[in-house]
Amino acid sequence: MATIISENTISEIKNTADIVDIVSEFVLLKKAGRNFVGLCPFHSEKTPSFTVSPEKQIFYCFGCGVGGNLFSFLMKHNGISFPEAVKMIAGRYGIEIPDQKLSPIQEKRMSERESLFDVNRKALDFFRNVLFNSSEGKRAMAYLEKRGLEEKTICRFNLGYAPSGWDTLVHFFLKKQVPPELIEKSGLIVSKKNKNGFYDRFRNRIIFPIFDVNMQVIGFGGRVLDDSLPKYLNSPETDVYNKSRSLYGLHLARQKCRETGSVFIAEGYLDLLSLHQHGIENSVATLGTALTADHIRLLKGYADRMILVYDSDQAGIRAARRCIDIFWKEHVNFRKEDVFRKENVDTRILVLTDGHDPDSYLLEFGAEAFFNAAKKAPGIISFLMESAIKKYGISVEGKIRIVSELKETLAAIDDGVARSLYIKELAELISIDESAVLEKVREVLVKKKNDIRRINRSNGFPCPNFKGPDNSNKCREKTISEIGSRLERQIISMMLQFPEILPEIDRRNLLDNFEDQLLKSIGQTLLTLKGNFQSRVLSTQPTARDCVHASEIMSRIDDKEIRGIIAALAITENFWDNEGCMKLIAQFEDSRNRSGSDLLRKIKAAEAANDHELLMRLLEEKQKLAVINKQQKLNQRGGK
Ligand code: GTP
Ligand code: MN
Repeated sequence: MATIISENTISEIKNTADIVDIVSEFVLLKKAGRNFVGLCPFHSEKTPSFTVSPEKQIFYCFGCGVGGNLFSFLMKHNGISFPEAVKMIAGRYGIEIPDQKLSPIQEKRMSERESLFDVNRKALDFFRNVLFNSSEGKRAMAYLEKRGLEEKTICRFNLGYAPSGWDTLVHFFLKKQVPPELIEKSGLIVSKKNKNGFYDRFRNRIIFPIFDVNMQVIGFGGRVLDDSLPKYLNSPETDVYNKSRSLYGLHLARQKCRETGSVFIAEGYLDLLSLHQHGIENSVATLGTALTADHIRLLKGYADRMILVYDSDQAGIRAARRCIDIFWKEHVNFRKEDVFRKENVDTRILVLTDGHDPDSYLLEFGAEAFFNAAKKAPGIISFLMESAIKKYGISVEGKIRIVSELKETLAAIDDGVARSLYIKELAELISIDESAVLEKVREVLVKKKNDIRRINRSNGFPCPNFKGPDNSNKCREKTISEIGSRLERQIISMMLQFPEILPEIDRRNLLDNFEDQLLKSIGQTLLTLKGNFQSRVLSTQPTARDCVHASEIMSRIDDKEIRGIIAALAITENFWDNEGCMKLIAQFEDSRNRSGSDLLRKIKAAEAANDHELLMRLLEEKQKLAVINKQQKLNQRGGK
């Protein structure tokens, strides 16, 4: 039975468990001052920059920027969900997780899902038994052997065989007294046209069970043994099976994906089996659908480099374009959130030679050749450039077509630097003037900007700054020193480590003057959460205060980059007192006022230069600043 874990239990776990204890199981930690340090398990390094603070109950890696509390550590390290992490820690400390009552509707949905998992699990046992223990199964086994599959792989993936009768599975379940309506919901049996009984969906087929990351069976695929059609048959979507959110093999791949930071994405069941059998275990396969945004989001939790493997240029091009579309759409959707930083995924396209799919390629050339080909796999943009050049050639006519085909792609690159580098690269590749390409790309950008405005207006959202999807090859978090200015970082750090100062920050509207939008929104989140903490602060010992604080905030932040930033700013060793804090605040306000006098200088310069446009902009800025200053003075007076 699934359980919902109550807030109370979660706090009990937080109060009992020790992050140093938990992390020590996976990382060799050494004491260093008030913290512990070790080699980061999330990136490869030779000197330890992975830091754990027992006081604050958080961790942060100064090398790769990953950070969080003990739950986020286990989730990331073991590739498990939040409830799984909670259960794991509870088990270790002998804390019981009481079942919380579900509403009748929740109960019904929950138990229906549980029953579907149960039916699927029973069916898996049935199919496997047929494969290993029947004469029909022998034929299937011979086929699998002919395809080069070893018994080890067949067992690891729990392959099975669906026998030829029309109702063998129906009878199997009848004997177990499982209601046929439930089995029908799982998609394993189908209601007859005349509504008079049911028949088996899968007959005469090798069965590939599909698992979710919790090792539950969510659906099945089935392949014929000969050339009959359809070659593959799949479970329909059910309450537990959603094709665009599931990936075949992920349950066995996720650990390796995390270790290597990369994942191969193939298209077929047998390709996937072959990849794993050849030791390429950081591989998954889509389930007869194209790669979706959900797939990418799912995989991002395990790897930041994705290598899409295809058997032809055409398939590769289609996939590359789709990815660009996906990133583009994700972007438009995500603008609605107040704190949004796109995660960067390094996506590569690997087209195997001569129409090979991974299975046939590995059988013919082996794993080493595959890895070598993968090393050379180009990123999406480079791949599309190469393909266009191959397709159109570099005659005058060809060049025109190449630019026209690629302008959308280039315009979709979010990062201005990356975009201009790719534009330059293309211009050089086909020896034409860079500005000619640039002009074409600009046209698309302007059009897109207008489209986005329209979309957002019709959604009732304010017009965002235009940004396209990001395809740059960055695969690590920004380290903390790259974010905002030193003063702004210090202020957030102070807010995290000395929560007594929060009301003062609030009263002075200090965050309004922040230039870095991410730090500003983190500050705002801290202020919003302030109420919760203050009630805790009163009831805990002063020394326990800030530790509850930082780790607590982590639980409330879903975005891993933001969690990293908060961990970094919370873990730095600073000793804050009221006086120090007020000094910092004064320093910050001073620096903002000084930028006011900079402004005056610029205004005079613009007047002298007769630059009317610039002048208007600067005057507007000055007006805004005046309003803020006035507010600050009012606040200071109120404070005395
Ligand atoms: P083999 O021919 O056994 O090597 O399989 P394959 O995976 O190489 O086949 P193919 O490249 O033709 O198909 C790739 C994937 O597309 C399969 O694994 C299936 O998920 C899906 N697929 C292929 N044929 C069919 C079909 O007839 N029906 C459905 N629903 N899916 C199919
Ligand atoms: Mn194949």
